[in-house]
Amino acid sequence: MTLQGGLGPSLKAEALRDKPVDSLVATIHGGRPGTPMPPWHRFLSEDEARWIVEQLLAGFPESTSATQRDAAPGQ
Ligand code: HEM
Repeated sequence: MTLQGGLGPSLKAEALRDKPVDSLVATIHGGRPGTPMPPWHRFLSEDEARWIVEQLLAGFPESTSATQRDAAPGQ
């Protein structure tokens, strides 16, 4: 998984930086009708979709510090 886009657009931080966070969250949660982007609301809460957007904006997967911090709380 390269996140550089193929069927979908690039999800790399530099490509998403200028887009409103709320609209990225809405895209993941509700999908984009009329495009192949499916809605994920059956599997993710809106807060979980927001967490994904935050990870992508923080540079996931190149920069995994936020994820590592979550995986090892207190360290
Ligand atoms: C973990 C799963 C996924 C996440 C987190 C995700 C996330 C996103 C985000 C944030 C956008 C908006 C990008 C932007 O506005 O620049 C987007 C758009 C898009 N995604 Fe996904 N996506 C996922 C899975 C998929 C899948 C499975 C497909 C199709 C097989 C897909 C197809 C698309 C397409 C075609 C767009 C562009 C829609 C448009 O033309 O406006 N995505 N996705």
